[in-house]
Amino acid sequence: MAARAPGTWWREGVLYQVYPRSFQDSNGDGIGDLRGVIARLDHLAWLGVDGIWLNPTFPSPDRDWGYDVADYTAVHPDLGTLEDLDALVAEAGRRDIRVLLDLVPNHTSDQHPWFAEHPDYYVWADGDKLPNNWRSIFDGGPAWTRHANGRWYLRLFLAQQPDLDWFNPAVAEEFDAIVRFWLDRGVAGFRIDVCQAIVKDRELRDDPGHSANRPEVHDVMRRWRALTDGYEDRVLVGETYVHELDQLMRYYGDGADELHLAFNIPFLQAPLDAARLRAIVEDVEAGLPPGAWPVWTGSNHDAGRLATRWARGDAALARCALVMLLTLRGTPFLYYGDEIGLCDVPIREEAVRDHAGGRDGGRTPMPWTSEPGGGFTTGAPWLPLGDGPSVADQIQHPSSTLHLVRSLIDLRRAQPDLRTGAYATLPAPDGVWAWRRGEDWTVALNLGEHNAELTLSGRIAVGTNRARDGEELSGTIRLRPAEAVVVFSGDDLRQRLPQNRRRL
Ligand code: GLC
Repeated sequence: MAARAPGTWWREGVLYQVYPRSFQDSNGDGIGDLRGVIARLDHLAWLGVDGIWLNPTFPSPDRDWGYDVADYTAVHPDLGTLEDLDALVAEAGRRDIRVLLDLVPNHTSDQHPWFAEHPDYYVWADGDKLPNNWRSIFDGGPAWTRHANGRWYLRLFLAQQPDLDWFNPAVAEEFDAIVRFWLDRGVAGFRIDVCQAIVKDRELRDDPGHSANRPEVHDVMRRWRALTDGYEDRVLVGETYVHELDQLMRYYGDGADELHLAFNIPFLQAPLDAARLRAIVEDVEAGLPPGAWPVWTGSNHDAGRLATRWARGDAALARCALVMLLTLRGTPFLYYGDEIGLCDVPIREEAVRDHAGGRDGGRTPMPWTSEPGGGFTTGAPWLPLGDGPSVADQIQHPSSTLHLVRSLIDLRRAQPDLRTGAYATLPAPDGVWAWRRGEDWTVALNLGEHNAELTLSGRIAVGTNRARDGEELSGTIRLRPAEAVVVFSGDDLRQRLPQNRRRL
């Protein structure tokens, strides 16, 4: 691989979340699989992504769709085999794309052999009454279930997802071996599920404050970081489901010795509002510990899709959100389908598969074409497809969201300032968020309802209105509602582009 400094690929690159059951089916059973992901790598290479995170790929009874793991060192038969996963890592590597797996260390499936063979790996309590007031994150009911053995076991999610006891050193050792197993196979790192809750209060004291964000969780993070640092250029990105930014920052560690990236839930959950998002970004910029790097995302398999949640189905607003994700300082994670502005799909009651969380609408198959089955499957898809435009539709149109995303990624690749340049907020009217990157780049989003004017000189490199690409600005720019631009105000843009770049 090209000689880039360690950490460059995941800091400067664009990452892309693949929900394997819904990306591409290769055998007609209606379920996406790893061979299917391999078949679509050329799309990802064309788009320009540097790495993919696969939602859980392990054998699982699928009570929580893969997040109830029955074996951490094998592949779910619905998705393929270990050989298929090796082939995916190799084929992706050939295209300079790395592969991250989803590690689930908070709990296992109750069908994992550990639950019967090593009960001491889990959190137990005795007594007639519930051990404390902890609540299940899924149903809000008690987080404890009475086992046939008469004891209570902890389960912060479903009753079929018993929580592991991270005070037991044997659990930590098991996970060291699991992490090594995959890193040795060439996996580039992990997205780590439910980081904030892995360790609970040892004395099982009541909430608030005792079922998550315990100080000892940082020992686990440091342990994994040290282990991962023994390999070349790997990355740990945490699902850090915390609502206070200062608490979130702690997951990067003191001296950058914990997670490389910590997902920002307050940003994801904020409305698409200039003042709200700007405030979060400014707080992150001010509060990140030295050496830490931001990460931005607007969609995932839990929260649903940005085109629906943030943009309420307005394609122009979704395009603004994509400009934002791809031009802030930090690593953007796109969710499969974001590149075409895919919306959540309404799910009829009889089609519901996620009984635990009602999250099916954001997990539906990728519409590659507009044929029945969407080019995703020749069989009956496990979840329905929506009726929005497909990849094949959008590829025909240079003004499509797909081409916009590709152009933005291309621009990032060509312009170091858009990857690593400092962020600085610029003055802007209400509803507008404008910032500078490095010396010469300005991004402006009009998320408000009125036309807005900004003082800005330079040339539009990429705008959501592609007809304006290349437009020279002479001191002011007018933005319509739901319009965004990326503007270059330095010396001649074309001269600074490498000769072999595609035309912007
Ligand atoms: C994480 C996952 C979610 C899952 C939960 C329990 O939040 O993202 O999908 O249901 O953990 O494992």
